[in-house]
Amino acid sequence: MLPEYYEFKNSVKIISGKNALENIPFELNNLNANRPLILTTKSVIKHGQLKIITDAMDNSNIEIGLIFKDIPQDSSVEIVNNISKLYKENKCDSIVAIGGGSVIDTAKGVNMLVSTKASDLKEYMGLEILEGKLNPFIVIPSTAGTGSEATLVSVIADTSRNVKMEFISYSILPDVAVLDSRMTKTLPPRLTASTGIDALTHSIEAFSGFQKNPLSDIYALTSIELISNYLIDAVSKGQDGRARVAMANASLMAGVAFSNSMVGIVHAIGHACGGVSHVPHAEAMTILLPHCMKLNLNPCEKEYSRILLAFSGPEVYSNTPEKQRGQRCIDEIQKFILKLNEICGLPIRLKDVGVKKEQLKDIAKTAINDGAAIVNPVEVTYDRAMTILESAY
Ligand SMILES: [Fe+2]
Repeated sequence: MLPEYYEFKNSVKIISGKNALENIPFELNNLNANRPLILTTKSVIKHGQLKIITDAMDNSNIEIGLIFKDIPQDSSVEIVNNISKLYKENKCDSIVAIGGGSVIDTAKGVNMLVSTKASDLKEYMGLEILEGKLNPFIVIPSTAGTGSEATLVSVIADTSRNVKMEFISYSILPDVAVLDSRMTKTLPPRLTASTGIDALTHSIEAFSGFQKNPLSDIYALTSIELISNYLIDAVSKGQDGRARVAMANASLMAGVAFSNSMVGIVHAIGHACGGVSHVPHAEAMTILLPHCMKLNLNPCEKEYSRILLAFSGPEVYSNTPEKQRGQRCIDEIQKFILKLNEICGLPIRLKDVGVKKEQLKDIAKTAINDGAAIVNPVEVTYDRAMTILESAY
């Protein structure tokens, strides 16, 4: 059914598959750019991924303005402001971001600054404050989970106030996202598994939330199907290029889905687990997802039933009585996570990731004030959050 009103945008050109990395110079030229600032990390350099890209540039008319490789795990306003200065000093005309969520978020912040007259990122905090087109921007993700290469959000820490600032604008979407299996083949199994479940959570929350729409639905369901078919192979056979590129696609599609819909309670409680107990985001998602789905089952029966079809296929779907399909969906996802736990030790309990029992109350209090809690199909109260946290402990 169509909602009364909705908006959807995905303007990112997607290049996926064999030799995609070698096409970056061509894509820069297409964007009228030839002097990129490359933002990356030491790990991308160590795994030889940067070299593939710079070799391709050496055989073209591209002249690299600067390679900046010291992006920390959690990017900050200071880093973004400093890199923006370097961009201008080195007369760069575009940005190529190669890395995980924090590299991509940093690059989005830098592009906001270098494309406008501002010199401090804090001027841009809030919703849709940017106008017009930013500078040419290409993203090559080195993980398959955040979907940042296709989202209109950037989260950057303001360390002076100890807060995470969120920037949301259609203008910060990259021009091109490059998905190549060589970028993720070296990811360890546990990280592959947890980030894959983060992507699954994005799609499930996008598909069952209030702000879903027919276009975000298509992206969500396709990504759920890909994750069900390929995540186990990506975890157990890391060098499997087909599984790796399928997961890169699934993560991007999940990013498009939630960027045009919303996430919900799993992210609300997951953010709080990160803030209070420093649980890595993707591991929090893995632990919380089945418990949160149980809370949402009643209003989301129809959506979960449709997710069952995408996740488990037509045979399981048709063999399950209509009234049991929603619950079956949760059971199948739980089984999937348990299987990943057996393969690579993916944590399935909060106590296994360093959360202390006495922190649960603080986590629940923080979760109910999280932005993602507001749009969850069931109201996220303190008591409900506590019930989930206790059952996930
Ligand atoms: Fe997430």
